[in-house]
Amino acid sequence: MAKVAILGFGVVGSGVAEVLARNGAHIGQKLHSNVELKYILDRRDFPDSPFSPRIIHDFDLIERDPEVEVVVETIGGAGAAKEFTLRALAAGKSVVTSNKELVAKHGYDLMKLAQEHNVSYLYEASVGGGIPIIRPLKQCLAANEITEICGILNGTTNYILTRMIRAGLSFDAALKEAQENGYAEADPTADVAGHDACRKICILASLAFGRHIYPEQVPTEGIDRVSLADVAYADACGRKIKLLGRAILEEDGKIQAFVAPHLIGGEVPLAGVEDVFNAIAVKGNAIGDVMFYGRGAGKLPTASAVVADVMDAVGRRDRPKFMDWGPGSKDVTADIRTLATRWYVRVRGEAGRALPERLDVERFLARSGAPTGETAFITKAPLTRGALDNALEGLEILSAFRVLED
Ligand code: HSE
Repeated sequence: MAKVAILGFGVVGSGVAEVLARNGAHIGQKLHSNVELKYILDRRDFPDSPFSPRIIHDFDLIERDPEVEVVVETIGGAGAAKEFTLRALAAGKSVVTSNKELVAKHGYDLMKLAQEHNVSYLYEASVGGGIPIIRPLKQCLAANEITEICGILNGTTNYILTRMIRAGLSFDAALKEAQENGYAEADPTADVAGHDACRKICILASLAFGRHIYPEQVPTEGIDRVSLADVAYADACGRKIKLLGRAILEEDGKIQAFVAPHLIGGEVPLAGVEDVFNAIAVKGNAIGDVMFYGRGAGKLPTASAVVADVMDAVGRRDRPKFMDWGPGSKDVTADIRTLATRWYVRVRGEAGRALPERLDVERFLARSGAPTGETAFITKAPLTRGALDNALEGLEILSAFRVLED
């Protein structure tokens, strides 16, 4: 019998309790050992919950209880979650988490501590919700040199963009729906401004390239500047706007990692990833292209990945699996200012005729209801952002998003 404690009884924590209860017999059979939920730590009481007898408010009880073998951390953030994770690992307990902020900021140190205590620190649920991606990157694709990762990594923003594109909903109405469905972070700014996707690409890039890449090394833009006008122009040229997290291995060995809205061609598989679904496309020098797809947020999909990690931690209690990477440093990442791509641009002003003198335009775009004094186009040759800004000097740039090449 393995005993487990859950820290944080929110969307994911309650999902973990539910999956453990609902699938207990099945889990016991697969693991040849039952998993029992002993404690749930939360500041709140849940008098109406069937799990209320397990609710406690004091982490000391868990830390000091030798019966607790695995601690599930679903608190989120890098405050109390970090303190409790450090204490649990130091007490010789495995920790399983869905907390991408903590892994992205402190993963290297936490994995080292887990190794020192010969326990597991597992985080499959931290990226892509229920999608298996951490183990495939670390294990199944281990024979490859990974050259690029490109993913739709945030369910909330993908949901918002899909609802804007398909139903013409305003940004606020679509965000409200995502929150009602339990997809959004406690503070949805982390989703909308791209921080959540940034943390996830940090984790994937660290795993794929073997060095810790910290959030502050990853230039990040969210979807707050994407308007219905941009959605319509993208549609006019058979493309979709998606928020992508990308990590590209450059020739000099540095990693170009960033998060930004992109225009992607309708025939590219990532373009068909809608609603709360996430997808991660990986390029390896032996496998070629491979893509992982599934529900990237939500209570039970995320709990599915957490509980599988719990089972792994229990099943390997004598020989833990280390899903680790090496230390980071400033020179691991490349400078985004050197990255040249084609661009979708929307400017204020009747710039149309003058533009070809300044830069190569592949095509001008039209949409119904466009106001006079607005020009949208796609550039032809790859340009750095600096070169684009120079070419458009004096014009007010309303939107500038990179184009993902097919
Ligand atoms: N807020 C996150 C998302 C939850 O929308 O993708 C899953 O990490």
